[in-house]
Amino acid sequence: QNELYRAGMFHHCLPVVTTDPRKLEEQAKGAMKPTAYNYVAGGAGERATMDANRLAFRQWKLVPRMLRPTTHRDLTIKLFGETYESPILMAPIGVQTIFHKDKETGLSEVCSEIGVPYVLSTASSSSIEEVAKANGKGPRWYQLYWPQDDDVTISLLKRAKANGYKVLVVTLDTWALAWRPADLDGAYIPFMKGVGNRNGFADPVFREKFRKKFNAEPEERVTEASEEWIGDVFSGAAHSSDEIALLKKHWDGPIVLKGIQHPEDAKLAVEHGCDGIVVSNHGGRQLDGAVGSLEMLPEIVEAVGDKLTVIFDSGIRTGVDVIKALSLGAKAVFVGRPAIYGLAIGGKQGAKQVLQGILADVDQSMGLAGIVNIAGCNRSMLRRYAKRA
Ligand code: FNR
Repeated sequence: QNELYRAGMFHHCLPVVTTDPRKLEEQAKGAMKPTAYNYVAGGAGERATMDANRLAFRQWKLVPRMLRPTTHRDLTIKLFGETYESPILMAPIGVQTIFHKDKETGLSEVCSEIGVPYVLSTASSSSIEEVAKANGKGPRWYQLYWPQDDDVTISLLKRAKANGYKVLVVTLDTWALAWRPADLDGAYIPFMKGVGNRNGFADPVFREKFRKKFNAEPEERVTEASEEWIGDVFSGAAHSSDEIALLKKHWDGPIVLKGIQHPEDAKLAVEHGCDGIVVSNHGGRQLDGAVGSLEMLPEIVEAVGDKLTVIFDSGIRTGVDVIKALSLGAKAVFVGRPAIYGLAIGGKQGAKQVLQGILADVDQSMGLAGIVNIAGCNRSMLRRYAKRA
């Protein structure tokens, strides 16, 4: 982290990707096809929840401490018994081939280089096996869009387990894709062309069932195969909490529920024996008009923080945002859109620069705030200066 800072400060050696979080999206817009840009930058409805996600961060301010030696700082965290070098994880983001040809394999490779755990989406354009190979010895988790067909679910879990994915992240908020006005061709057309379904198409159980029904391989009937896959994964029917038992039966590692916003749902996760939750509203891409994600974090930590691991996402743009979320009780955060903007601008190296930039910002800002390690990020560092939005 320090290296990046020194190179810029003293030698004016700046990264290809802008380090100004406000300009990053603009730079990415210039680098992408409008459909791809709309897919990543777009949100549900009038984007009120996207706005609320950012506003929630502005309502908390850090109160720095002085006269503390902070030269040596430690960003490591422990999650589910494993030590990670970084408090940020790469969020699961689907269809990465539409942003850059480096796609999931490239991004997971650079995440491994900088010690950022990579969370692979079910809706990926590279398969579970390809990403495991590219990620090598890097830490990786698997995100499940939970199919209706239990055989397919079990097959995905088996493949993830066999390929070294340590934690299962089950996304609950996207059993149907929301209406995203800017995005009606950005995501859906690539999905329908099969680009977003390569991981699904690679699944032996899905293939077998498809063959039986259509007497063809998925690649020969891409439209039908896409419809089958989307129909199963984004079926329009939500699973119930009782069905978590099936996941527990077929996954012997930690299970984390993603998309939790209500403290009562966080309690349900505890009751059903889950190991963690991600407090997230999918970056404002699902229910528009929903509360800013950070708004709910303190209440949720209060309700279940001592019973399971609380992770946070939706709206993280800077290192200071990371420190705020950790100080409100999250044990780690997912970074989503910023890394994808980096990927679009400069391929895997661009994404790497964005993630390194955020880590460098966490490191530097912790030092300036008088914090030396992640445990030092706690409520005593924060004041709320505005009433709830
Ligand atoms: C997502 N997200 C997401 N989540 C998930 O569980 N599986 C997925 O496949 C995807 N795909 C996806 C695509 C794109 C383009 C975006 C922007 C987001 C949600 C993601 O994991 C995370 O919750 C959000 O990105 C957090 O919001 P911000 O901080 O990126 O605005």
